[in-house]
Amino acid sequence: MSMIKILKIGGSVLTDKNRPACARTEEIERVTREAAASSSGLVIVHGAGSFGHIPAKKYGLPEKFDPEGLRETHTSVVRLNELVVSALSRAGADPVPVHPLSCVLLRGGRIETVCTEPISEMVKRGLVPVLHGDVAMDALRGSGIVSGDQLVSYLARALCADVVAVGTDVDGVIFNGIVLPRVTRANLSMITGSLGESTGVDVTGGMKGKLLELLDLADAGIVSEIFNARIEGRLEKALKGESVGTKVGRTD
Ligand code: IPE
Repeated sequence: MSMIKILKIGGSVLTDKNRPACARTEEIERVTREAAASSSGLVIVHGAGSFGHIPAKKYGLPEKFDPEGLRETHTSVVRLNELVVSALSRAGADPVPVHPLSCVLLRGGRIETVCTEPISEMVKRGLVPVLHGDVAMDALRGSGIVSGDQLVSYLARALCADVVAVGTDVDGVIFNGIVLPRVTRANLSMITGSLGESTGVDVTGGMKGKLLELLDLADAGIVSEIFNARIEGRLEKALKGESVGTKVGRTD
């Protein structure tokens, strides 16, 4: 069995987060080409970008249970997923769409379960499951938002990932203008005040939300790397486990 690699591609890389359902087609082609170059053992989770955050905000999700908002937001992120899946397929990988609305249950905004068995089987057969930030049912609140980062953290543990690479539109975790090579819980309090907000509409917490998910993962002994996926070549290196941004790890 080859190494399991979990790749998150942020919605800010794939879309213009300020314009409704606005895909960056050339970026989608480029990042999927880089990902397809190491598709063995690969699971992709992409963000929702403006396909998800803008409709979610319009309908007051996740605070409100709104069937129409649920449907419209899901349908919109599925459209982005279709663009990513078809670009991966053109790049020579064998991608398959996996929609969290149908396989994730939340409880109080946190993932309680993901049906991971089919995902493992896909990977064993050389397919690349492509999940995404989505809306999902919540056992306490009716519905909620499942961020790609939360999915990455859950899947990395469930599938015992060897590599976890989180692509964004910045060079990593930046403190006083410098990219930190490593972040742990020990230096989190020092940097949280200076963490940048997302540059567009965002209902899932920007860089701070991302770091908190990845620190949970680090507590389970799995190191991840936050890197800039908009710079050509970094995604390919990150999937090989090379340091191209900020590592999120344990304090010891
Ligand atoms: C958010 O997903 C999902 C919805 C708003 C429906 P993400 O939090 O993973 O998306 P990005 O990466 O910030 O765009």
